[in-house]
Amino acid sequence: MAKWKGNPVAGGASGNVSRETVEKIPAAVATVNVTVEVIAVDGPAGVGKSSVARRLAERLGYYFLSSGLIYRCMAWYLTERGWDGSGKPDAAPLESMTLRIGADGEPIVDGSAVPADLRSERISTLASVVSANPAVRERSNGLQRAIVADIGATGAYPGVILEGRDIGTVVFPDAPRKFFLTASDEVRAERRYLELKTGDPTVSREAVLVAIRERDHRDRTRDVAPLKAADDAIVVDTSGLDLDGVLEAILGHFDLGPNDLGTP
Ligand code: DC
Repeated sequence: MAKWKGNPVAGGASGNVSRETVEKIPAAVATVNVTVEVIAVDGPAGVGKSSVARRLAERLGYYFLSSGLIYRCMAWYLTERGWDGSGKPDAAPLESMTLRIGADGEPIVDGSAVPADLRSERISTLASVVSANPAVRERSNGLQRAIVADIGATGAYPGVILEGRDIGTVVFPDAPRKFFLTASDEVRAERRYLELKTGDPTVSREAVLVAIRERDHRDRTRDVAPLKAADDAIVVDTSGLDLDGVLEAILGHFDLGPNDLGTP
């Protein structure tokens, strides 16, 4: 079990949720007791973390949670409340933001689905900028721990696959299994380009490579919780691997019997 034993975090888990998790972004202090196993999957932009983590969760029957999606929601929320995307945003509006993850895994903010393409390049950049703000990170970390605690309280899942940049280093440093995915800039940009091209045929390879390098630089050099592998993380270079290959490389580190797997 990866219990969170660090400082109490704001915003207690309600503990009475079923498949849907409802949480208010931290306002009052309460201790979150996480009693479910957490597997950390960290790595840079475009490395395929979400796809891999989602598949891993399906395979093991675990709950999947993307911390990047939470930062994306926060970035969108702040732009809706006056941040023009430049400079350092004021995190204060997040105090009244509520976020829950719906049964389909999509976020619901202040009771409604988010009416924006949270996975667009624009929101990717804004999320990276917003996430450098320590106050934003505090709130996001509290929310992630509370959601994981709620999932544990339901008893419906043996564990949570949590993907991001700092899960193994900061959010759940006691996680018993940590994976850090890597790939060259070019490989990651190509993957992201192919993904974006399906929705926007005008997207350029070069622009995607530039954007991914800028985002990497920002994520790696920020003062708080920069992107890096935890000392005890297993690093998986995905450059020459497809999705199945990465999954196989990760599952190779599990001692799994035939009854330990969820849906194949
Ligand atoms: O994983 P992603 O591309 O959806 O993340 C979007 C941005 O959010 C990323 O550029 C940096 C930030 N992020 C973070 O700082 N820490 C995390 N654990 C996850 C995401």
